[in-house]
Amino acid sequence: MSETLERWGSKRAFILAISGAAVGLGNIWRFPYVAGENGGAAFLLIYVAFVLLLGIPVMMAEILIGRAGRRGPLQALGTLAAEAGASKHWRWLGLFGAFTVFCILSFYSVVSGWSIEFLVASINGQFNGATAAEIGAGFDAFLASPGLLIFNHSLFLFMTMTVVAAGVAKGLERLNNLLMPLLYVLLLLLAGYAATTEGFSTALMWLFLPSFEAITPTVVLHAMGHAFFTLAVGACALMAYGAYMPEEQSLPKAAFAVAVLDISVALLAGIAIFSVVFAQGMDPAEGPGLMFVTLPIAFSELPGGAFWLSVFFLLLLLATWTSAINLAEPMVATLQGLGLRRSMATAIIALSVWLMGLLSAFSFSTLAEFQPLFGRNIFELVSSIPPDIFLPLGGLMIATFAAWIMPQKRVMKALGAGESGYLLWRNIVRWVSIPLTFIVLLGGLL
Ligand code: PFF
Repeated sequence: MSETLERWGSKRAFILAISGAAVGLGNIWRFPYVAGENGGAAFLLIYVAFVLLLGIPVMMAEILIGRAGRRGPLQALGTLAAEAGASKHWRWLGLFGAFTVFCILSFYSVVSGWSIEFLVASINGQFNGATAAEIGAGFDAFLASPGLLIFNHSLFLFMTMTVVAAGVAKGLERLNNLLMPLLYVLLLLLAGYAATTEGFSTALMWLFLPSFEAITPTVVLHAMGHAFFTLAVGACALMAYGAYMPEEQSLPKAAFAVAVLDISVALLAGIAIFSVVFAQGMDPAEGPGLMFVTLPIAFSELPGGAFWLSVFFLLLLLATWTSAINLAEPMVATLQGLGLRRSMATAIIALSVWLMGLLSAFSFSTLAEFQPLFGRNIFELVSSIPPDIFLPLGGLMIATFAAWIMPQKRVMKALGAGESGYLLWRNIVRWVSIPLTFIVLLGGLL
């Protein structure tokens, strides 16, 4: 049965695919604004610690389940549970993951749509000569136009689902190969520019000098949620990719490489964005608009700014595209596993996510005051609860399954790290990742 699935073309292709899933809005848009709302350095410190203690080990757990099962999440979990003599209900974890990515993709697509709008605006030179206040006002006016938001959301989702429908190897590999390094270089340049602004030293202090009073259970919960979100861990999305992993690759190395890349992208974006924030006297806790307002300001001060801003939004769009494809994959794989054709499965998922996304798109205008839970509107709910609660919860169960349920031989083979590597990984997951996730979730919820 294991021969029926496609494989990634090479080890490099697999790493690129995982980093394509990891690097996206989470690094460049979400990290700065969530850090901004949660005290900066304190948040950063805890988030990096969580990436190391939870993110990387659980990422390995997730991918190895996919690799051992060689199927979509639902089927992989079902087969492996049966094989281990455990309850077949474990497979519902696959469904929970699909529900999580469903919620996430619904707002992810709307925000990625903002990048499309900003790409077009920057190509048209709309930011040329604009002041910070004008750029801010323009963004608010954009959010208040649901028609525009829906148009861009539809476009982005269409782009995503077309690649998904085309199938894994064909659609994804080529795309990932070329574009990530380019984005990285651009961020490096941007951070270099940030170093010349007067906000730079304040930004560095704000990002790297934690004040420990700022650490509250909520900050810790957000930092944990973000660690899962940014690595794309906890929703069985990487599990779906693990199913296509080449036979002879070492998983720990791949996971570590991706995490380092992922954190460094977030740091570069953070340095660039907060330098502008402080140079312009803006509020770091500006919210979801933070990146969309600060970066046009930053670029407008640079020689050739309009051109580079367009290039930046183009690359951001490509980075979010590869993440969105990963968000869609487990849903499609699950439906396919239930016997649907890939094209049919993709169409059903596309339509449902599109409809759900409308609620987010309207959350900035018509539905702004519709706050069904905790005084938050739909966009605020779907952009916080699934990342902060569902992903860690999913990760907790994934880790439990891999480190407590699956037989050692199975895991060892899928991990590709020898016996001592396996034992180290298992001890970390059993005695650090699982209890820590549990405690933070509980603490944050109470
Ligand atoms: N890691 C992606 C980002 O940082 O933009 C978002 C993401 C992808 C989250 C896939 C969860 C997921 F399963």
